[in-house]
Amino acid sequence: MEEILDITPQQKETENRRYFLYLVLLPVYQIIAACTKPKIEPLVTLPTSPTNTDSDIFDALKNKSLLAGDFINLEWRKTKETSSNLEFSNNGGNNWQLIPTLPEQNIHAWDIPQVSTKEAMLRVVDNAGKQLAVSAAFSINPTFVVMLESHATLAKAGAYKIFTEPRLGDFVLKRDSEAFIAFNLICTHLGCTVRDNSGFLKCPCHGSEYDINGAVTRGPADANLKSYNTKWIEEKGRVLVYV
Ligand code: FES
Repeated sequence: MEEILDITPQQKETENRRYFLYLVLLPVYQIIAACTKPKIEPLVTLPTSPTNTDSDIFDALKNKSLLAGDFINLEWRKTKETSSNLEFSNNGGNNWQLIPTLPEQNIHAWDIPQVSTKEAMLRVVDNAGKQLAVSAAFSINPTFVVMLESHATLAKAGAYKIFTEPRLGDFVLKRDSEAFIAFNLICTHLGCTVRDNSGFLKCPCHGSEYDINGAVTRGPADANLKSYNTKWIEEKGRVLVYV
């Protein structure tokens, strides 16, 4: 004889209550579990000054436009991870390369590589290569880097030197007391290359003259030589000329 399982109305109500409690409590449990999950603390900070070491890498690099040849200080902060590495990508995270650091030191000065990209990123990975933290994309603009130790003639204010660089052409780099200035040698009259005339610049085509700051002093040219922005990084003995 077949056994028939009959459920009383009381049993059915108990079952319904259990099911209702399950539906209500499950999301609550999931929220609590998410909140108590161990969080990855920021491992890298980018202090903007020696006394400001609290800005997180994500905020510090957001919408930033950095200069190749410049440097930024990365604070290597050890937390729960026993070991971790810092990596750089110049193409939005498609490829990564290790940034050699000295983990026992608090601050690592990262020399920004000579690339031109709007998709630069930094990330922290553990020893197994698992990504722990990643920055927002930021820009790096290329520069021409002059190492002053290799150009003794630029040691004094007022000194200048002519450089040749494929992206900038021939240009003058001149040292003033507080800064370096740079300008190209293309005459603003009809485009001949002006020449150094021991303290001023003269165009061989129609005789225009410029002073050693690139300002026109004699026509037919009526505009100054085109200038380039520069950045003097005294602590590194470098001058960056913006490309
Ligand atoms: S091109 Fe230089 S003066 Fe004419």
